[in-house]
Amino acid sequence: MQAALREAVRSGRLAPGTRLPSSRELAADLGVSRGLVTEAYEQLTAEGYLRSGRGAGTWVGGAVRAAHPRARDLAPRSPGARVDFVPGTPDLSLFPRAAWAAAQRGVLAELPHHALGYPDPRGLPRLRTALAELLARRRGVVADPERVLVVSGVAQATTLLGFVLHARGVRAVGVEDPGTPEHGALYTSAGVRPVPLPLDDEGLAIGPLRESGVRVVVTTPAHQFPSGIAYSARRRAELLDWAHSVDGLVVEDDYDGDFRYDRAPVGALQGLDPEHVAYTGSVSKSLAPGLRLGWLLVPASLVEEVVERKRTMDLGNPVVDQALLARFMERGDYDRQLRRCQRAYKERRDVLVDALEEHFPGTQVSGIAAGLHAIATLPGRYGPPARFLARADAAGVAVRSLTDYAQTPAGEERVVVRLVLGYAHVSPARIREGVRLMAGAVGA
Ligand SMILES: Cc1ncc(COP(=O)(O)O)c(C=O)c1O
Repeated sequence: MQAALREAVRSGRLAPGTRLPSSRELAADLGVSRGLVTEAYEQLTAEGYLRSGRGAGTWVGGAVRAAHPRARDLAPRSPGARVDFVPGTPDLSLFPRAAWAAAQRGVLAELPHHALGYPDPRGLPRLRTALAELLARRRGVVADPERVLVVSGVAQATTLLGFVLHARGVRAVGVEDPGTPEHGALYTSAGVRPVPLPLDDEGLAIGPLRESGVRVVVTTPAHQFPSGIAYSARRRAELLDWAHSVDGLVVEDDYDGDFRYDRAPVGALQGLDPEHVAYTGSVSKSLAPGLRLGWLLVPASLVEEVVERKRTMDLGNPVVDQALLARFMERGDYDRQLRRCQRAYKERRDVLVDALEEHFPGTQVSGIAAGLHAIATLPGRYGPPARFLARADAAGVAVRSLTDYAQTPAGEERVVVRLVLGYAHVSPARIREGVRLMAGAVGA
């Protein structure tokens, strides 16, 4: 009956605002135990389908249909696309609504009044402690809670660093090419010019880095975005040598470092040299980007300036959200969520690889088995990328190629199709459909 009730709300058969019978009445009507009805009401209330007032009945929630479209069958983010492979988003239908709602109730019940005042701009001590434990355990980060800063995502961490570095006279920062355009855009907004630097098979190429003259460089070493490689051990060491030699800073964007499907993830670079690496991550890939919650750890010499910037920027992140995430982590819910996503995403990656092999024989999937996206290099006959993408688009498939993320595409990249395929937010059936549609569109 729980499923039937959920479906009735989802489909609109039970309109928002409708008052439901009491559990006693409904149990009698349906001839089931009252406990069963109570349990269904509680579960659906936790999921946001129903609302209940203490002793005042149960109603159909107001925002359900807009907030929760066809739970497993995600609405594409590219309007009009039948299948959306654009990377960057986790499966939002895996958001742990019931556990989150339970943590929220717990937090509101336990937070003393004074805790609702202006927070420490660094973040709640309780959350910084939980984060320090989590990052040390899962990512090998050297994390003293005193040095953890709670921010609203990698984006804010980047902006904060940009402002602080600018105030210190830094006017240029190296960024990976190919890379996420966000890094460059955020540093530019802080008055710091991004300098695109090339990669090779092992990570950011050290020669061009040295020649560029920059002293700060932004990297994604655990799973480079978008190429999907993990920096080699040698390149990690070379990068740190470089940072020492120029008294510089490596910014480590660990945006999806929790997800690795073939072995344990490579530990964070920060763990090797916390005084030359600023480390940042967020819950955007593990829970939902809309939460806007993340963290930043900086070398001791930068802590004071970064905290002061955070204070003048927004006086700190919302207290209830921070307490909620702390509780969620302390109780093991965060680890559970990671395990659940890990299972789903591993399966989706396997489905994608199989579908590519079936419809585009000879395709090479490169990059490590990790994160939320993969790179597929199609055989030469499918190029050039612009034509392929236009045909995929016409067939209703939104997809990107590596050239979309490159400032200076290598010669080969203008001819060969290298797709950047976000698979985590797409169901296995849709993944197969998307690959089949692309194959049909280009006559594969
Ligand atoms: C490389 C990279 N870093 C970070 C982020 C996430 O930023 P935030 O934590 O602000 O949501 C993204 C989002 O897609 C990304 O691609």
